[in-house]
Amino acid sequence: MIGLYSSLVVFFLLQAHQSTAVFNITAAEPLFPSQTLVSSGQIFELGFFTPNGSANRYVGIWYKSMTPSKIVWVANRDTPLAHSDQSAKLKIGSDGNLKLVDKQQNIVWSTNVSVHSNNTTAMLTDGGNFVLQDRNSVEIWASFDDPTDTLLPNMEIGLNNRTGERRYLVSWKNDNYPSSGYFVTGITWETPPQLFTWNGSSPYWRSGPWDRSTFIGMPEMDSSYFSGYVLQQDLQQGTAYFSANTKNNSLFAYGFVSPGGVLTLIIWDYGSKSWSTNWEAPSNSCEVYGTCGPFGLCNSLNSPICRCVKGFTPRSKEEWNSRNWTRGCIRETELNCQKNTSRSASMQVKKDVFVQMNRMKVPDSAEYLKDIGDEGGCQSWCLNNCTCLAYSYVGTIGCLVWAKDLIDMQEFSTAGQDVCVRVAHDNTGMSIQTRLIISVSTMVGIVFVGAAIFSLCKWRTSKRGTNNSNLLLNFTLNVLKDKTGEMSLGNSWKDQLKQVDASELTMFSFSNLLHVTNNFDATNKLGQGGFGPVYKGKLNDGKEIAVKRLSSSSGQGMEEFKNEIILISKLQHRNLVRLMGCCIEGEEKILVYEYLSNKSLDTFLFDSGRKAELNWDIRFQIIRGIASGLQYLHRESNLRVIHRDLKASNILLDEKMNPKISDFGLARIFEGTQVLLNTHKVVGTLGYMSPEYAMGGIFSEKSDVYSFGVLLLEIVSGKKNTSLYYQGHHFNLLSYAWQLWSEGTGLDLTDEAIVHTCSTSEVMRCILVGLLSVQDHATDRPNMSSLVLMLSGESELPQPRPPTFTFKSEIPSHDVKSEWECIFSTNSITNSVVDGR
Ligand SMILES: *[C@@H]1O[C@H](CO)[C@@H](O)[C@H](O)[C@H]1NC(C)=O
Ligand SMILES: *[C@@H]1O[C@H](CO)[C@@H](O)[C@H](O)[C@H]1NC(C)=O
Ligand SMILES: *[C@@H]1O[C@H](CO)[C@@H](O)[C@H](O)[C@H]1NC(C)=O
Ligand SMILES: *[C@@H]1O[C@H](CO)[C@@H](O)[C@H](O)[C@H]1NC(C)=O
Ligand SMILES: *[C@@H]1O[C@H](CO)[C@@H](O)[C@H](O)[C@H]1NC(C)=O
Ligand SMILES: *[C@@H]1O[C@H](CO)[C@@H](O)[C@H](O)[C@H]1NC(C)=O
Ligand SMILES: *[C@@H]1O[C@H](CO)[C@@H](O)[C@H](O)[C@H]1NC(C)=O
Ligand SMILES: *[C@@H]1O[C@H](CO)[C@@H](O)[C@H](O)[C@H]1NC(C)=O
Ligand SMILES: *[C@@H]1O[C@H](CO)[C@@H](O)[C@H](O)[C@H]1NC(C)=O
Ligand SMILES: *[C@@H]1O[C@H](CO)[C@@H](O)[C@H](O)[C@H]1NC(C)=O
Ligand SMILES: *[C@@H]1O[C@H](CO)[C@@H](O)[C@H](O)[C@H]1NC(C)=O
Ligand SMILES: *[C@@H]1O[C@H](CO)[C@@H](O)[C@H](O)[C@H]1NC(C)=O
Repeated sequence: MIGLYSSLVVFFLLQAHQSTAVFNITAAEPLFPSQTLVSSGQIFELGFFTPNGSANRYVGIWYKSMTPSKIVWVANRDTPLAHSDQSAKLKIGSDGNLKLVDKQQNIVWSTNVSVHSNNTTAMLTDGGNFVLQDRNSVEIWASFDDPTDTLLPNMEIGLNNRTGERRYLVSWKNDNYPSSGYFVTGITWETPPQLFTWNGSSPYWRSGPWDRSTFIGMPEMDSSYFSGYVLQQDLQQGTAYFSANTKNNSLFAYGFVSPGGVLTLIIWDYGSKSWSTNWEAPSNSCEVYGTCGPFGLCNSLNSPICRCVKGFTPRSKEEWNSRNWTRGCIRETELNCQKNTSRSASMQVKKDVFVQMNRMKVPDSAEYLKDIGDEGGCQSWCLNNCTCLAYSYVGTIGCLVWAKDLIDMQEFSTAGQDVCVRVAHDNTGMSIQTRLIISVSTMVGIVFVGAAIFSLCKWRTSKRGTNNSNLLLNFTLNVLKDKTGEMSLGNSWKDQLKQVDASELTMFSFSNLLHVTNNFDATNKLGQGGFGPVYKGKLNDGKEIAVKRLSSSSGQGMEEFKNEIILISKLQHRNLVRLMGCCIEGEEKILVYEYLSNKSLDTFLFDSGRKAELNWDIRFQIIRGIASGLQYLHRESNLRVIHRDLKASNILLDEKMNPKISDFGLARIFEGTQVLLNTHKVVGTLGYMSPEYAMGGIFSEKSDVYSFGVLLLEIVSGKKNTSLYYQGHHFNLLSYAWQLWSEGTGLDLTDEAIVHTCSTSEVMRCILVGLLSVQDHATDRPNMSSLVLMLSGESELPQPRPPTFTFKSEIPSHDVKSEWECIFSTNSITNSVVDGR
């Protein structure tokens, strides 16, 4: 359907074989067609060229030695010279501007800027920028400010909403015709901005919103070649600029919009000495803007590729069935909130509900609500405003809502974000809870995984097989990969599963759990997390249990659910909460844990009335227990696990105040050497997230070490990491701890409630271990095994490096700073991004 722009190459006939190379253009020395201007490192070349088969002559820039070459910039694309014109020249005019004149001395192109001095020079940089500068080397004009169809590293495209300036890429008419074509690629002025390609004035492709490291709609965008895709929006200045910068100057890459409208990233491959395509957009019809129409959902793996959002039906069945999806879908049932008030007054109004769709390229025309700090707030804002048709809470952005028809939605196999679409209550055909959200896109997955977990729970009674944890690892990894749920597992999953020793998991019936929790009575509620409420229950044999009823409205989807079950059923350690069983019936997904009478650490630590109950000995025991549990997760268990959401509220305490790590919903398994994982979805809790994870989405076991360091300092000080934020002159607990320690007054950090009971040497050791764990660079942080040794006093303690990220004024680069400020600019600093319990 989409003609990919096959020839990446633009040849030119008159490459002036005998051309002489010059290094600058001055008033005295113009550039003639027999010459080329070359960058000092011989990387780029500027000169006159004639496209294959054309009668026109242009001035342009191309790669000098990397053939086949690409014309990356054209000066006079819309005012060509005649190919026969041998007397044309590119000169510096008497006003200091660059001018391209034909043989009649008519100016066909000019830089046309106001120049104070007429003593100017033009030269070409090794980055491909053609620059006009004055005698003091001050840049007066640059080709980077006037792009053609190509984006080079360190070049920016974007706009200034104040001045109306647009610096966009405009395609060639065709491969041999540089004149301005139909397609324009630029950045939109919205928050967050999107990369957009228009065909004339109609949208042709969009990237989805920028999530601070990548675009939500471009899961294939591979940043490994780049130090970064950078998109900076300055609301005050009204500017938004995007650039893609290579890691080092010897990596050559460029992006361009082809005459057929495909935005393409090309990279020079040193191995094969040729250009290769890194990504293209759109690369299939699903990516073309609005293929499935309003409220239509595109999945390139399905056939047909379009379907309606649950609760919607094709506007025209005939058109839809003939695969013309452009008119999209309409609601099956009017929204309850839109119903006529006179009627609703007399009837009991049912609230609308949300249908959740996972792994989505979110629809176009999002509105960003900047004052909403968590997913719950986002949902209730949307629920209470009838014009709100959908919402999505993206950890790195915040709350996005939609008031216009939802268009250009795409479903991915990996990456993407969850979108919750408002539908009338009746549409779901279910009436369990008002906050019910059905995960449409994982329906198949639910059936499948439900079966798998059911099997897992059931097989507990079967004969103990070989304790083959590799098998479970394979199974788990396959499930987690979850590209196409069933397919990746093939038919063998059943066989694999049969051999798994599913330990002591019990399958509970829903009615039994209803009974033991007294119908989930509010008085039995232990707490409420983002993933659902937790209730206390008492089994017939008198044993107490904690029952976590996963609300499907929460962040914990099927993914997290199966993850947690499989992980935790296999992990057994005295400092990890033990999963006793599960229940899957209908829409109910329930986990049953051992009950821990003293609830979570934060209920003591941050409560001025109760913190004294945690004397130093208990705190030290808790610290060492957590360290030991983490060490087990990282190193000793057969499955190597990164927890990813370690925090005080996830540490539960038993009757003897032994700590137990809970909430594995976000945990990820890693294999031996593969310690750096990249995730597009940054989840976790601000304040505990390591810089590399919060900013780059990169996590490793060292991200857990960072969280552990924060937690340790919190336990010692009895203060929340984020609570000191903005107060006084301290950035947060970490910088405060660092300052005290570096001034030699580290003990002042100690919680006043325990200052008289503590062992100063142990406290000092803990503070130092904490500071070592929160160092900026993951490689500087010790691993958990070393930390356990350090805590026990069996190991030397090195000196920590100052945690610069925690000092606002010392944040190293401009980009990094704005990232942090953006993250913390809302009032949500203490909230979980996905609030686990
Ligand atoms: C122009 O290039 C020549 C060498 O090609 C160099 O000697 C000269 O200094 C350059 N002039 C300016 C103004 O850069
Ligand atoms: C120029 O175009 C002709 C016909 O389209 C083609 O055969 C030839 O290979 C092209 N030459 C170059 C250098 O691209
Ligand atoms: C620069 O401008 C001055 C006067 O404005 C003029 O006399 C001189 O010829 C100009 N130089 C060039 C190289 O055009
Ligand atoms: C130069 O710019 C002025 C206004 O800024 C415009 O009127 C003029 O036509 C431009 N000249 C060329 C050659 O583009
Ligand atoms: C232009 O500036 C250069 C130094 O940058 C100087 O050597 C030269 O004489 C100047 N030319 C004119 C015409 O002013
Ligand atoms: C600038 O932003 C406003 C809204 O903030 C918008 O209405 C206007 O169209 C924008 N201008 C441009 C040139 O994009
Ligand atoms: C772009 O728009 C033009 C004019 O509306 C149309 O003829 C052409 O088919 C469009 N191209 C694509 C790839 O959609
Ligand atoms: C830059 O990239 C090249 C090619 O991959 C590599 O050989 C070189 O070591 C890199 N240089 C630096 C400073 O990273
Ligand atoms: C699809 O339907 C629209 C609206 O009814 C119509 O304008 C368009 O021509 C149809 N497209 C095709 C390819 O049939
Ligand atoms: C509201 O309902 C009443 C009675 O059912 C009806 O007469 C009226 O037209 C309705 N108004 C709207 C705006 O639908
Ligand atoms: C409801 O949502 C619309 C669209 O987002 C917004 O313009 C309007 O101000 C909201 N109303 C209220 C009361 O918040
Ligand atoms: C796990 O998977 C790998 C590769 O997919 C395979 O080589 C290995 O045999 C599997 N292990 C088991 C126990 O099935």
